[in-house]
Amino acid sequence: MTGGHVPVLLDETVDALVTDPEGVYVDGTYGRGGHTRRLLSKLGARATLWVLDRDPEAIRDARKLAAMDPRIRVAQARFSELDRVVESGACVAGVLLDVGVSSPQLDSPARGFSFLRAGPLDMRMDPTAGVTAGEWLNTAPEEELSDAFREYGGERHHRRVARAIVEARPIETTERLAEIVSRATRSGGSRSRGARSGEKKHAATRVFQAVRIVVNQELDELDRALDAALRVLCRRGRLAVITFHSLEHALVRNRFKFWVQGRDDLPRRLPVVSDWYPLARRIVRGQTPAEAEIAANPRARSARLQVIEKVEEVAR
Ligand SMILES: C[S@@+](CC[C@H](N)C(=O)[O-])C[C@H]1O[C@@H](n2cnc3c(N)ncnc32)[C@H](O)[C@@H]1O
Repeated sequence: MTGGHVPVLLDETVDALVTDPEGVYVDGTYGRGGHTRRLLSKLGARATLWVLDRDPEAIRDARKLAAMDPRIRVAQARFSELDRVVESGACVAGVLLDVGVSSPQLDSPARGFSFLRAGPLDMRMDPTAGVTAGEWLNTAPEEELSDAFREYGGERHHRRVARAIVEARPIETTERLAEIVSRATRSGGSRSRGARSGEKKHAATRVFQAVRIVVNQELDELDRALDAALRVLCRRGRLAVITFHSLEHALVRNRFKFWVQGRDDLPRRLPVVSDWYPLARRIVRGQTPAEAEIAANPRARSARLQVIEKVEEVAR
């Protein structure tokens, strides 16, 4: 554990990512530096490791590490901007994105990420920018709320929850939101869609996930970051992405498939268009943590690692 966050799929990710020990690398999600530290242990003295995070607390931690290791460059930035941040002429040998929230973010009541901790409805990874969860929940049209709960949370009772929120406005705290969601879905422990028999999830899990995705524009960020990473990678450079829920898994899987196999919107019986060539080859396909890792760190349960290697130059 580093700084209150246990890195997931640590060996699997770093082993798959490092092919040139003296290259330029990017950890786009520093968090508390678990993956960064392991990467540094594999890199030589002439390597460079850019570390990015949008959270100022993560960046404070990163700067302390950078003061002790001249190979590190730190930038507070969104990972969708990584190509602009590392633009230096040199191509990048490896990019890591371990998306989602860190344990310190989840565990701090003041950040408002968890329905298990009483706090203000914030949920911004960068608390200096953008709209808070409370601002969105208290102002968005009912239909927008309902759509988001369905699309990003898979919440079956999305309409009822949206209606209950609009009727209860203004909502100021995580506790109050959790209470409203529980009541609207009629129980605090309704079974989640797709959950194994007997497995229960608090109803608020899905709604909190949806709110967090909206507030931080998480899917849009990931979508843009994949393209930004491919642009900066060297030929044979690698991109490793760790995702935590089905929307993220699918986004990465489909983009990687597109790069590896070609356009996925073409009917399969059509011949591959003649001027098409693959941009990447697959290195790791949806690897999950071993049972022992999940037992030691239940948060790893839903993690998936996908890695590709770039095979062609992409116009920047
Ligand atoms: C799962 S944690 C990373 C943990 C890290 N690998 C470690 O071992 O400590 C995700 C981190 O990514 C950051 N993050 C999430 N989305 C981001 C984005 N779009 N741009 C930059 N940082 C982001 C979060 O602030 C958080 O610190």
